[in-house]
Amino acid sequence: MTAQQLVNSIIPHKKPVQKGTGKAAINIALSKYWGKRNVELNLPTNSSLSISLPDLGTETTIEVSRAKQDVIFLNGKQLDEDETFAKRLSKFLDLFRENCYFEIHTTNTVSTAAGLASSASGYAALVLALNDCYQWQLSKKPLSILARLGSGSASRSIYDGFVIWHKGDQADGKDSYAEPINEQWQDLRVGLVEVDSSSKKMSSTQGMQNTVNTCELYQSWPTKAEADLLKIKQAIQEKDFRTLGETAENNALSMHATMMATQPPILYWQPESVASMHKVWALREQGIAVYFTMDAGPNLKLLFLEQDIKSIQAEFNELKVIQPFKTILR
Ligand code: PMV
Repeated sequence: MTAQQLVNSIIPHKKPVQKGTGKAAINIALSKYWGKRNVELNLPTNSSLSISLPDLGTETTIEVSRAKQDVIFLNGKQLDEDETFAKRLSKFLDLFRENCYFEIHTTNTVSTAAGLASSASGYAALVLALNDCYQWQLSKKPLSILARLGSGSASRSIYDGFVIWHKGDQADGKDSYAEPINEQWQDLRVGLVEVDSSSKKMSSTQGMQNTVNTCELYQSWPTKAEADLLKIKQAIQEKDFRTLGETAENNALSMHATMMATQPPILYWQPESVASMHKVWALREQGIAVYFTMDAGPNLKLLFLEQDIKSIQAEFNELKVIQPFKTILR
């Protein structure tokens, strides 16, 4: 099945009705997605589990334009049609339209492409805006599948709170969608350590492909990732923070180990990333339960509980602290 066939089997029609709006949060994977079994359909080799950060994300509006091409504004600035981001977006929109162009305004509250998963909130917000624009009235499951076609992790940003993206087994990808875990954790905090927010040099798609094709260590990854996901899910249900933190940190480091053992090697870390890891471990030695996770970029995301916020901020002065369960909309 092609992406176009999959889209045609999900959406009821291709006639835009009104100006559409959509809003979605970024998400941080606690058990990561790394590796595709089908690149066109963005089908992963393993399931993943994330937490959405409702304070940060993307808002998008879309309406039919009379221009002869798509007109795309990112954070208020019109993009040149040749920019990679604009080309990727227009190609994605081709899946949904018939003979029309759009004007799109997309605003991020996180720096684009710095490993802070703005593509996840971006494609989720765009798919929600399309659903509004076309008045398809699709439920979250098919919306999650459509968002997945833009960016794998976007399938998870359709929901707030803890979310599992089931890898699925079918070749057509119809069983590869995200679903929320019905659990909240009021004391949980996520801290963003921004090391560098310039765009990453290697896209996650390219990085994943290189890892899948050349990394021997990667063979053990899918089994480990599934086991970590189950451990983290149980830790969430039991509010066992230590298990959640230890498993999430180990999962992230294992994913980065497969990146480093790829040919040519992929290393998203910078000296300040490593210095921050040492600070986290030093805090743990002092008895403070803080753990980190990292994605395809140099920034760290710290996991801790409300009670430790002051000791952690004393070490990380610039820390941006997010309360994932402040407002949950489902
Ligand atoms: O959704 P993508 O293609 O940007 O891939 C995201 C990959 C990681 O952020 C590294 C892991 C994850 O599960 O979010």
